[in-house]
Amino acid sequence: MYTEKVMDHFQHPRNMGEIENASGVGTVGNAKCGDIMRIYLDIDDDQIIRDVKFKTFGCGAAVATSSMATELVKGKSIQEAMAITNKAVMEALDGLPPVKVHCSLLAEEAIHAALWDYAEKHQIKIEGLEKPKSDIHEEEEEEEY
Ligand code: FES
Repeated sequence: MYTEKVMDHFQHPRNMGEIENASGVGTVGNAKCGDIMRIYLDIDDDQIIRDVKFKTFGCGAAVATSSMATELVKGKSIQEAMAITNKAVMEALDGLPPVKVHCSLLAEEAIHAALWDYAEKHQIKIEGLEKPKSDIHEEEEEEEY
């Protein structure tokens, strides 16, 4: 059911933990399954993501996607990180079963939420970034109709 990469990131998650005094922190949940993901970003003066950590209270696919998402945004600029979608995270994991696609949305939204927090703290505007939802379940519902 799961690819080797998903199993690897689930069993050996990269960048798990938290960052003290992070530049931005984002927490997103999915009320439907009850899973929660939090992303911490350490962003330098050149707007490069120097460090990133995550904490996920959720299913194996949510852990694997958070782990992969942190790997993908580390060392990137804010704009590059904005371009990393849940699709990109899934592709990097060689795919997820269809019922687990929503788990990867959690990772994308948590990164956006952390970037939003950073932008608010620094009073800047990040191109293309909209106020993130704290519950991605609402968004899924909208998409279904
Ligand atoms: Fe909800 Fe995976 S089942 S995030």
